Order: sequence, then C-alpha cells, then structure tokens
Amino acid sequence: MMSENVPKPIIENHVIKGKRLSKRIRKQIKAEVAELVEKFGQPPKLVTIIVGSDPGSQMYVRMKRKACEKAGILSEHHDLAGSTTQEELLALLDRLNDDSTVHGILVQLPLPNHIDEKTIIGALNPLKDVDGFSPMNVYRLFYGGEKLSAATPHGIVTILDAIGMNDLSGKHAVIINRSNIVGKPLIMLLLNRNATVTVCHSKTADLSSWTRMADVLVTAIGRRTSSDDAYYITAEMVKKDAVVIHVSTPFGDVDFDTVKDKVLGITPVPGGVGPMTITMLLRNVVDAYLTQMKQS
Ligand code: GUN
Repeated sequence: MMSENVPKPIIENHVIKGKRLSKRIRKQIKAEVAELVEKFGQPPKLVTIIVGSDPGSQMYVRMKRKACEKAGILSEHHDLAGSTTQEELLALLDRLNDDSTVHGILVQLPLPNHIDEKTIIGALNPLKDVDGFSPMNVYRLFYGGEKLSAATPHGIVTILDAIGMNDLSGKHAVIINRSNIVGKPLIMLLLNRNATVTVCHSKTADLSSWTRMADVLVTAIGRRTSSDDAYYITAEMVKKDAVVIHVSTPFGDVDFDTVKDKVLGITPVPGGVGPMTITMLLRNVVDAYLTQMKQS
C-alpha cells in the first residue's frame, strides 16, 4: 500500500501542478519565518504601494498580501490616488527605504503615465527591492546571481527545477515575451541553466517556426490573435514532449486541451505560474529580511 507520506507528483496527466508546488514551498517558508521571528524578535514586513485604481493591480496586491499574512509576514498597504505626484511617491519611498521595520517594498506596476517607472524603480533601496527590478538587482542577475530576482521568471525556473529540468544543456527554450517583468529576466535565469534561448515577440515573423523547435516554451502573450480571436498556441505549433509554461490570464494564449496531450507537461491557468509568482515574492521578502537582519 502506498504510504500517505509519499508526496504527490508535480506533473499529473501532463498538467504541471504549480499550485501544489507552491503550497509545498509556502509551508517551508512559513516554518522558516516562525524560526526567524524567534531568532531576531521581529517579523519580516512587506510594504505594497498602488498608485491609481487599476482593477488588476488591486486584485494582485490583495493576493500578495494575503499570502504574506498566511506565511507570518507582516504587510502594510498604501493605496495612493491616481493624482499622486512623482515627488510624493519618491518621498514615501525615501521614508520606507530608511525604515528598519520595513524589509520589502513593492510598487505595483503599471504606474500612471505622469510617473516615470524607471525613476521610481531606481529610487528603491536594492536590499528592499523584492521585485528584483532595481538596477543593482538586474546587474546581479546579469552576473548569475538569483537572489531577489523577478518573481514570475523565478517561479518559472523553480517549476522547471521541480520537474527535473534544472540543467537545460542541449535544450532550446523559446520565450514569447520581451517585457522587463517576464521575458528579459527569464533569459538570464534560463541561460544560467545552460539553455539555448530564443525570444519571440509581436514583431517576430513566422512564430510557429520557432515554437515548434522549443523543448521549453514559455508563453506570456496575454491575449488571443487579433484577427479571429483564436488561440495563439495550438497543438501543431508545439513540439511533442515539450514543456509548455503558460503565463497568462484565463483568456490566454494556449489551446490547453489540445496541447496538453502532446506535451510532457503544461501549466494550467489558473493554478500554474500565478501561485508560484506569489510564492517567489514571499521567498524574496524573507531573503531581503535575512540580508537586512544580518547587516543590522
Ligand atoms: N505588475 C505586473 N506584474 C508585476 C510584478 O511582478 N511586480 C510589480 N511590482 N508589478 C507588477
């Protein structure tokens, strides 16, 4: 008889169980936080900031804060009016950068047009930049470090590690996304695992000629084709036994049902990359806290 203690597999019927992996890692983080609070006498704290009323941002930040709370991480939220000036936001960041009870700061993107994203990200104390977006953390990633790296790419490679794909030597990874949040940092993390990496985007010609070559296909288009509202990624565009990582909304880019049976594994939406993104944020908050407590 199978022991009840045998952990369930991360891939089941070709579906990569991101939520299951996420639960496992969050349990470890929660235990680690409890030990650290005992040791340092102070809980880790994340401060989240939203400027304006983007409904997606409100939802994502709510989920991030709830996950913090469950893991024993304090969270504080600043909901700023859309009319907040760049100077006001910079003044808040200055104060948080200097507050020793704050270990992580997350400014949810997008910001309103009158605020320069690069200036705001550049003003974050890199030790508290739990998104891994600030110049120092991007530089660290470029040189092979993975502490405080962007949460979604970090979640993706953690999924690959968990399914035995921690060394991608000889494998071709194709990323359909060139954003600062997903595609660009993911290039570095996949290169660190020896993958041959191709990046496709909206101006790429003949997308399927690239996707068909992918052993690992990461897709984060976030919408259907504009011509006929069809899925971008269909079964004939995917190599047999590839791994497909689908970073998207439920209205996403992949025809999940037909692709699923052709591939080794595919992440579902929801329950795939999403929970792992939040889990990696928690990991970053704890790592940021540890660095700061050791320095104080
Ligand atoms: N907006 C969409 N994704 C993210 C993210 O990972 N971090 C922040 N700060 N904003 C986002």
